[in-house]
Amino acid sequence: MTLPNDYMSYEVLWTPNGDDLVVKGDNLEFLRTLPDESFRLIYIDPPFNTGKVQTRQTMKTTRSATGSRIGFKGQTYETVKGVAFGYNDAFGDYWEFLEPRLEEAWRLLTDDGTLYLHLDYREVHYAKVLLDALFGRESFLNEIIWAYDYGARSTKKWPAKHDNILVYVKDPNKYYFNNAEVDREPYMAPGLVTPEKAALGKLPTDVWWHTIVSPMGKEKTGYPTQKPEGILRRIIHASSEPGDWVLDFFAGSGTTGVVAQNLNRRFIMVDQNQEAINVITKRLGSNLLGPSVAFIDFPEISAVE
Ligand SMILES: C[S@@+](CC[C@H](N)C(=O)[O-])C[C@H]1O[C@@H](n2cnc3c(N)ncnc32)[C@H](O)[C@@H]1O
Repeated sequence: MTLPNDYMSYEVLWTPNGDDLVVKGDNLEFLRTLPDESFRLIYIDPPFNTGKVQTRQTMKTTRSATGSRIGFKGQTYETVKGVAFGYNDAFGDYWEFLEPRLEEAWRLLTDDGTLYLHLDYREVHYAKVLLDALFGRESFLNEIIWAYDYGARSTKKWPAKHDNILVYVKDPNKYYFNNAEVDREPYMAPGLVTPEKAALGKLPTDVWWHTIVSPMGKEKTGYPTQKPEGILRRIIHASSEPGDWVLDFFAGSGTTGVVAQNLNRRFIMVDQNQEAINVITKRLGSNLLGPSVAFIDFPEISAVE
């Protein structure tokens, strides 16, 4: 297990043989305590364009701590980033918040690991260009469109009813992917295939029709940005195996951990919002099977030289 050697030493808070973790605190500082190449799957669903206030501070810390971007695409990345930041101030702020966290994600992925970055149509195009430069264009696996049908419909433009999930792998020659376990979909024209095929259903494509968390359903926690378990189930089934560690450092209501636990994966979830931790605690509390879960208040644990 190796910690990045240009970082300050941190107390080791996690080991692969330890408990599943729920961490309350800023994700960037916590991520820096984790050893390289520890997670086969990282799913993140960052808040859209709300990182402005904390952005400026975290960038300073990160730059002085990490120095140059060894392992990334150096000059190309800096150039692409410069162009994107210059073009759109709001996105520049947002990306300055996300960028050091995505660098950590890259560092923390195993060499056969996969990152799922959940965004919406306003950010995804900038993010695609920047992640191509950060991970390498050859590491781009998919853009998943999660399409849903809920809420009011604009009459002034085509109503936007989808989210975008960018999928990048650490190494395009090694990544793990297995859709055999993934839930299948009904054929649109079942009469055109054999009854056996129609009964089995077809493998999902990169367009996933899935309802949002129903305001009336039993999955609903009340956390405003909660994502459906069905979306996470597909991701976790396809890009990890039982026993693998899954990381979600924008955990919100804890959907990733709940699904990971149900599918016998291990997990770390991080969120800085106490309300999120309360919801997660309640959600996990109802599932007493599997390994135990430790709760950490990260800011109370200080770095050691
Ligand atoms: C869009 S929500 C995630 C929702 C989640 N996927 C779910 O299913 O409930 C984003 C979360 O990121 C958290 N967050 C934002 N900035 C953070 C930071 N710097 N460190 C840790 N958590 C952060 C917010 O508190 C929020 O709960």
